Amino acid sequence: MTVRPNIANAGAPTTVENADVTVVGGAGHVGIPLVLALAEAGLRVNINDLNKDVLDTLEGGRLPFIEDGADSVLSKALTNKRLAFTHSSDRISTRGPVIITIGTPIDEFLNPVRKVVQDCIDALLPSLADGQLVVLRSTVFPGTTEWLAGYLQGKGRKLKVAFCPERVVQGNGLRELRGMPQIVSGTTPEAEQEAAKLFERITPEVVVLSPIEAEFAKLFANAYRYIEFAATNEFYLIAKSAGVDYQRVLTAMKHNYPRLQGMPRAGFAAGPCLLKDTMQLGAFARNQFALGHSALLINEGLVLHVVEDLKRRYDLANSTIGLLGMAFKAESDDIRSSLSYKFKKVLNGQVREVLTTDPLVTTDSELRPLDDVIAKSDVLILCAPHAAYRQADFKGKPVFDIWGHLDGANVIR
Ligand SMILES: NC(=O)c1ccc[n+]([C@@H]2O[C@H](COP(=O)([O-])OP(=O)(O)OC[C@H]3O[C@@H](n4cnc5c(N)ncnc54)[C@H](O)[C@@H]3O)[C@@H](O)[C@H]2O)c1
Repeated sequence: MTVRPNIANAGAPTTVENADVTVVGGAGHVGIPLVLALAEAGLRVNINDLNKDVLDTLEGGRLPFIEDGADSVLSKALTNKRLAFTHSSDRISTRGPVIITIGTPIDEFLNPVRKVVQDCIDALLPSLADGQLVVLRSTVFPGTTEWLAGYLQGKGRKLKVAFCPERVVQGNGLRELRGMPQIVSGTTPEAEQEAAKLFERITPEVVVLSPIEAEFAKLFANAYRYIEFAATNEFYLIAKSAGVDYQRVLTAMKHNYPRLQGMPRAGFAAGPCLLKDTMQLGAFARNQFALGHSALLINEGLVLHVVEDLKRRYDLANSTIGLLGMAFKAESDDIRSSLSYKFKKVLNGQVREVLTTDPLVTTDSELRPLDDVIAKSDVLILCAPHAAYRQADFKGKPVFDIWGHLDGANVIR
């Protein structure tokens, strides 16, 4: 049987000139699910990203990282010619909104780097048409949206400015976009209305706030999550100091008890957003964000606690340590800000050798097959609790598992 792509809705190919919307940073973790959701809603999308390699990957019909349910949507968007791929800042469509989803890092002082937003806008400005809507979707320092509106006005430009934060969980963005309310804010009623109209095409509900409220909503949500992880991690440390298995306590606490259903288990809380955004809020609070900074001490310090525990139990200098799971969280292939690499760094030089493995990560040439790591290691540490490790045969080797993910006589919690 010959299978032919469905080109009934294909129409003319999407170009910079006819695109309905541009997503700047559209080949990133936030950009791709958004682009696909917009294309799925029938819009022609200009994916603008400086990373040409990732654009080529997408154009070839492949996703550069794990995004649940996205393969078929990408394939359909390509078949229907809904996507244009551009990699320079002067290739911006003037017909519709421009959504910015670039990374917004913190610097070595744990302060936000507003310059990345300014540099991005400066590069786009000559290509933007007056009257166009610019939507900030990256997570930004409170005040950035109003600052941007003033900055553009100061340059004599009449652009509409909105802030519509991304709140999806990485790896499941497309599904969450379809089901979650979208917070929308604009610096003018026109900007707010146009942004709301845009997001109503892809989300079931729009919740309107002022720009500073929306900026806080995003940062509070991420900081709260980071603090939740710190709370459970500190409980783990307290239980452990008493020789008590925290996972048993947690399971009993949550059993049919409605108020604790959302309480996370202990684990390494990392990744590109939670710490960064907690520190953005800390910077806004003039470094007086007591809970946020305490959360950092606990979550980042957990690695050192485990290493100290290892030292008490084993002759580390003569041991090979195997790290299981280098992604920053389970079922992810993303190693950005993964605490697994903090383990690697801290242990290197203290132990005979550190070996690393991960069934999903494809971006680290030092990774080895799981069996090899198990065979050569004296002690294993479960860094990212991928489901695959539940089935693994650890050959009786001790495995440190603070997540409560594994069972067995060799598992140390
Ligand atoms: N990763 C998440 O799950 C998540 C969730 C919610 C919000 N956020 C926020 O979204 C933003 C983006 O995060 P991400 O994880 O997608 O980052 P990312 O690094 O995966 O993607 C950013 C993309 O922007 C591109 N880029 C950078 N500067 C550019 C420019 N000037 N012009 C065109 N392209 C440019 C990069 O090449 C990259 O592809 C951040 O502010 C982050 O805090 C992330």
